[in-house]
Amino acid sequence: MSIILSIQLGLLVGVILLAYNLCRRRFTTERLLPLPPGPKRIPFLGNVHQMPFERQHIKFSEWASHYGDLIYLQAFHKPLLVIDTLQTANELLEKRSAKYSSRPHTVVLTDFIGWDATMALLPYGDTWRMHKKWFLSSFREKTLPTRYQLQCEETRRLVIGFLDDPNAYMSHIKRFASAISGRVAYGATLNDRLNRLMEDLLAVTVEAGAISATLFDFLPFLPYMPSWLPVASKKARFTEYRPVVRELQMATYKHVEKDEERSSFVGSLFEEAARDEKNRVELERQAIGAGIQLFGATVDTTTAVVSALLLAMVLHPEVCRKAQKEIDEVLGNSRLPDFSDRPLLPYLECLIRETYRWRPPVPLATVHLLICDDEYRGYRIPKDTIVIPNVWSMSRNAALYPDPERFYPERFEEMDELTRDSADPRRYIFGFGRRTCPGRHFADASVWIIAASLLSVFDIGKAHDAAGQEITPSGQMEPGLISHPEPFVCEIRPRSSKAVGLINQMREELAM
Ligand code: HEM
Repeated sequence: MSIILSIQLGLLVGVILLAYNLCRRRFTTERLLPLPPGPKRIPFLGNVHQMPFERQHIKFSEWASHYGDLIYLQAFHKPLLVIDTLQTANELLEKRSAKYSSRPHTVVLTDFIGWDATMALLPYGDTWRMHKKWFLSSFREKTLPTRYQLQCEETRRLVIGFLDDPNAYMSHIKRFASAISGRVAYGATLNDRLNRLMEDLLAVTVEAGAISATLFDFLPFLPYMPSWLPVASKKARFTEYRPVVRELQMATYKHVEKDEERSSFVGSLFEEAARDEKNRVELERQAIGAGIQLFGATVDTTTAVVSALLLAMVLHPEVCRKAQKEIDEVLGNSRLPDFSDRPLLPYLECLIRETYRWRPPVPLATVHLLICDDEYRGYRIPKDTIVIPNVWSMSRNAALYPDPERFYPERFEEMDELTRDSADPRRYIFGFGRRTCPGRHFADASVWIIAASLLSVFDIGKAHDAAGQEITPSGQMEPGLISHPEPFVCEIRPRSSKAVGLINQMREELAM
């Protein structure tokens, strides 16, 4: 053997040994690293037996006081990681967002109900990026003013509804959310039938988030079990909604046809698809999904926030009066607010922030999926871990929000500017990192104009029973992915005859 060949062989062996050692060391360190702390797991079930069927955020919060802000759990064989503080959520979901931005496959939503081309469910990848680009270009902060007129107009209809039939306040709020979604998505509101279908579909989607339904994700054999088994029988119930999804998808074509200028969100996407003959069919399919996603993301969340705000006003008349005083000083009771008033109403801003914090609309945000092994604070976090941000706990951080159960907008006034900014609940109620809600600015603008308008012309207080006694709402929230107040009665009265006059004037203007 020549000397050169021996040297080459020696080098090759050296490189192989070095690589082997590096791999071995990395492998053993990873194996040696512990998983984050969490309640004891048992064979097969993991922690399933300890997880409540509803309001899991409260249990997670209790566990956090024992195990810290990273809690490792297992649902059967699937790893779960609950993040309990904003700081850790930012460390992982924002700073390491390249790893933590996917979504787990959901059997019920995707395979049974048939949600298709839906951004919130898409795994991290090119199709998701395309949807993100679509949503961001349409809903980024800069584009907000283009929709102000529409938001003001639909708010005025809401105000008229409150005057005409105050007891049906929930249906007026839902109508607002649905009308705004339809007009933005397709340039027109959906007809009554499609609205009802959409409402049913959203309700079953929320039900699909319940633990009993997510069992299908954790137990791959479950869909094949006989349907007379209680859990497996749910499959039939969910698959009943496939035709509903189909009907809503098909309705998109009719709506886009009517939007001749293609100026709506979906219309403009169809226009873009038409310019790409090769991918047209697929792009249209994705655009249809984006339109339905817009509805799905807007209606329940906006309704949840506005009804929580009304609840807060009923329970805290002093806050309601203080906000009204501020509004009166700016508007002089002579008109309804518009977006140019926003910078002039700082207390109202605090009130809205406090509503987001007091009753976070999505207490567990939406789960993220980790796409590769990770290591954090000396813990091993395995690939495919489902990460659950406990937004509810973040909103209860007593160091930032003393006496966190109290509804107290002044807490934000009392903070210095820097703290106010870092304590702003909009930093977490809309999710995290690359998956942060792309509609957040638009949603926040809707909430603001509704709050400002309602408070400018209505007094909102406790209803009275037949004996004249005040009825105090429980203030409790219903269980579910999206947190709505338990139904409550309240009294909504115009503040003055001048307020009635203003509302009737708007009624005439809208009819013109
Ligand atoms: C108060 C109202 C709203 C709340 C509280 C809310 C909250 C959220 C949350 C928590 C997420 C999950 C974020 C994450 O995974 O980290 C999300 C995602 C999303 N939201 Fe919103 N949202 C609201 C309104 C809207 C509106 C009006 C739109 C559309 C214009 C919208 C569009 C979306 C979309 C498309 C996603 C999926 C993002 C993704 O998976 O990458 N949302 N939202």
